Amino acid sequence: MFIKSMENAFCLKGKNAIVTGGNKGIGLGITQALAHQGANIAIFARDEVSAKKVIADLEKKYDGKYAFYKTDISDMQSCKDSVAKCIADYESIDILVNNAGIATGGNLLDLEEDLSSWFRCFDVDMFGAVRLCYLVCKHMRDMGKGGRVINITSNAGEICNKPSLASYAAAKAALNHFTRCLAAEIAEYGIRVNAIAPGFTFSNFSKNIPEEYYKAMCETIPIGRFAEAIEIGALATYLASDASDAMTGAVLTIDGGYALQH
Ligand SMILES: NC(=O)c1ccc[n+]([C@@H]2O[C@H](COP(=O)([O-])OP(=O)(O)OC[C@H]3O[C@@H](n4cnc5c(N)ncnc54)[C@H](OP(=O)(O)O)[C@@H]3O)[C@@H](O)[C@H]2O)c1
Repeated sequence: MFIKSMENAFCLKGKNAIVTGGNKGIGLGITQALAHQGANIAIFARDEVSAKKVIADLEKKYDGKYAFYKTDISDMQSCKDSVAKCIADYESIDILVNNAGIATGGNLLDLEEDLSSWFRCFDVDMFGAVRLCYLVCKHMRDMGKGGRVINITSNAGEICNKPSLASYAAAKAALNHFTRCLAAEIAEYGIRVNAIAPGFTFSNFSKNIPEEYYKAMCETIPIGRFAEAIEIGALATYLASDASDAMTGAVLTIDGGYALQH
């Protein structure tokens, strides 16, 4: 559906959303933002303890339906099992947020010849999203109600700002372009596919950064600070809602202006 006025433009009441990695960091910010707008949330991740805690917190605040599906997004069978259980529980999936990701490092010339860190990074960050798009977008097409896919990439997918993180940057660049191609492929089914490319954001990635190093990093960011996970969640809310129906294949950078200078 598309909007003709701002009335309920961002409302997600009754929508069912999968958030991969919705138990921690940026994914948690997205879970909280979508739940605040009324969405029911299915968290796909591996760590049950943190997911159960998130669900208990949501249940105290809101009256939606929240559940955890233990999933390793680098494993197709695990994704298939979780999607099937989720559809059985929720009947339909309206929103898919491919947020879960890892960063593997190392200069190419220093790696072992099996290049395992490259394959691992692509398997999680790129193919994890492809697997879930394959399973969930087929379901969305068959339900005939359209849908929303949001892929969380990185500003590293657009700029060469992080030496030694080429595997991560290349996987995110691939996910950006997959987003564009899939968007064109499935627009006819009313499924919109967009990406959010964050820059430095508070999460598990960043929680152990020493104060001095954090300050030095902030000097490279025009707004002078990291983003909060909930700010990524706010943008995801827009992309999940009817307000963004005219947008597909977009990669939206939210990095405090960092990429402008690189
Ligand atoms: N933080 C930043 O500065 C930043 C900047 C740009 C882009 N990003 C992107 O934002 C996304 C979230 O990052 P974050 O900073 O929030 O990281 P994080 O705090 O380390 O969280 C990563 C999440 O991914 C899940 N995950 C990892 N591997 C998984 C797997 N194989 N199967 C299922 N779930 C898996 C983790 O859950 P379990 O451990 O429970 O499985 C966790 O919820 C990533 O795609 C990252 O590349 C982050």
